[in-house]
Amino acid sequence: MQRRDFIKAGAFAGAAFLIQPKAHAASADAHIEVLLDTPLGTISPFIYSHFTEELGAVIYDGVWVGEKSKIANTQGIRTALIDKLRQIKAPAVRWPGGCFADSYDWRDGVGPRDKRPKRTDFWVDDRDSKGTAPLGPGNFDPNQFGTDEFVRFCKLSGAEPYLAANVRSLPAYVFDQWVEYCNSPAGSSTYADVRAAGGTREPYNVKYWGVGNESWGCGGTFTPDEYASEYRRYTAWVPRYGVDLNLIASGPNQDDVEWTQGFFENVFGKRKIKAPFGWSLHYYTDLPEALAFKAGDVYPGYSLADRMEKIMNDHWTAMGVHDREHQVKLIVDEYGPWYRFSDTKVDPSHVLGQQLTVRDGVMTALTLDIFNRNPEKVAMAACAQLINCIDSLFLSHEDQFITTPVFNVFDMYKDHMGGQGVRVEFSAPAIHYPRTAIKRTLSPVGDEAVAPESEGRDAQLWGLNGSASRQGNTLTLTVVNPHLTDALDTQILLRGGATASAATAQVLGGGADVHTHNTFAEPNNVQTRTAEVKVSGSTLSFVFPPSSVVKLSVQLT
Ligand code: AHR
Repeated sequence: MQRRDFIKAGAFAGAAFLIQPKAHAASADAHIEVLLDTPLGTISPFIYSHFTEELGAVIYDGVWVGEKSKIANTQGIRTALIDKLRQIKAPAVRWPGGCFADSYDWRDGVGPRDKRPKRTDFWVDDRDSKGTAPLGPGNFDPNQFGTDEFVRFCKLSGAEPYLAANVRSLPAYVFDQWVEYCNSPAGSSTYADVRAAGGTREPYNVKYWGVGNESWGCGGTFTPDEYASEYRRYTAWVPRYGVDLNLIASGPNQDDVEWTQGFFENVFGKRKIKAPFGWSLHYYTDLPEALAFKAGDVYPGYSLADRMEKIMNDHWTAMGVHDREHQVKLIVDEYGPWYRFSDTKVDPSHVLGQQLTVRDGVMTALTLDIFNRNPEKVAMAACAQLINCIDSLFLSHEDQFITTPVFNVFDMYKDHMGGQGVRVEFSAPAIHYPRTAIKRTLSPVGDEAVAPESEGRDAQLWGLNGSASRQGNTLTLTVVNPHLTDALDTQILLRGGATASAATAQVLGGGADVHTHNTFAEPNNVQTRTAEVKVSGSTLSFVFPPSSVVKLSVQLT
């Protein structure tokens, strides 16, 4: 290590600060303290949810292949996808958007499939980065996949459906009717009969409902006050049929705290209504190149992804001004690295498709660790998007189907679901890199918008960070080492009276080039491996390899 200044990151990592190394074993490069007696709250399993939009090849060519397809399917749904979602215990899936949601009429997608209309998709004009790809199925919605097919997909995958209602272009009454279609008792209403004729007599009892999407933008370009009025109208008398509806209001774009302040002031301050269950937050790590990136692009990208924690904390503080009890939780239902300047999609029809490398696995892991460290704030999160779009866990085209490093991370991190989050402190040498203004298309976020005069100046990123949770006698500790070349010999101390009887490690990345990714021709380029952990009472030792995501599973006594 050239630099011996350490960065301490932990439960309050938003306020990471420089400290001197503690007087631990002198030989270790880094130290982790797991404070087993400092609980943070239960990690909601729903933090590990997913998002599927009627966009490009997410549904058609991704989720839905049709019952008559030669591709292995279960009632029209790609079987390989169902199997993998079961493997990672997918808790919920959001649909139909995204921006598409505010242009979608759910009534087009129910009833006999051969009678359903074909509609222009919201994404008709976003074919590829050059706009030259032919118009294809990804630009029109044949409505073969509607509410019944989506709920079927969720049931087969073991996930809860999370539906997003159209606020921009349909009346509140049509939202009520969608709830009626999904949740009214068998035989009670005409829509319940339509549902039964489609094969499902019993109600779907859909609990999670988004009230619009990005209502500051594609969902209506409302002001916060205007959207708050819409939210009131859409939610005041929505029928419940005995189902505890979790209504999710359309929250801010990244660090737009004014949107949060405006909405909360209106619905809590002016004429109080029942608090929404959730406040949706979207934050994409907007980056230029998915594959053709240089080493110098990596740390600025990680730092940008790491902004999530500050963004969440800033909104949480603003929410608390009016919602003193913090009844409303954050629902981070769109996040992930989004590459805007190159075309790495596996097929031209895949609107917003992109390749995913080990670097994306690292960014997804550090984001999930942020959620784990803030269980009192985040009730749900959905990675955008599940398949063939942005931060995808899967890529598919026709009968080809592969996982990405993002999938590996979800598979490793599932052990945190429902666990008791505990505080962890990381003490490791900071990574120094020159500040760069990353070329972006979205509006800049916070201090990452580099002023020309600060270009090239020293910037820094923590050397190790992660999260921990406990379920019974099992401790799950997930750790990211973002350093491109340096391994970190690390001593891990268990505080709070427990000792370890055994521990194993699962490693993603770890020395492999961060550009490594799977392709249809080489589907197993990225794999996790197990590694040994040294255990001695309440002390563990492990060498965290460079560019790695590691899960330690520790048996406590
Ligand atoms: O995920 C792609 C798009 O990004 C979504 O439709 C929208 O909500 C966001 O802007």
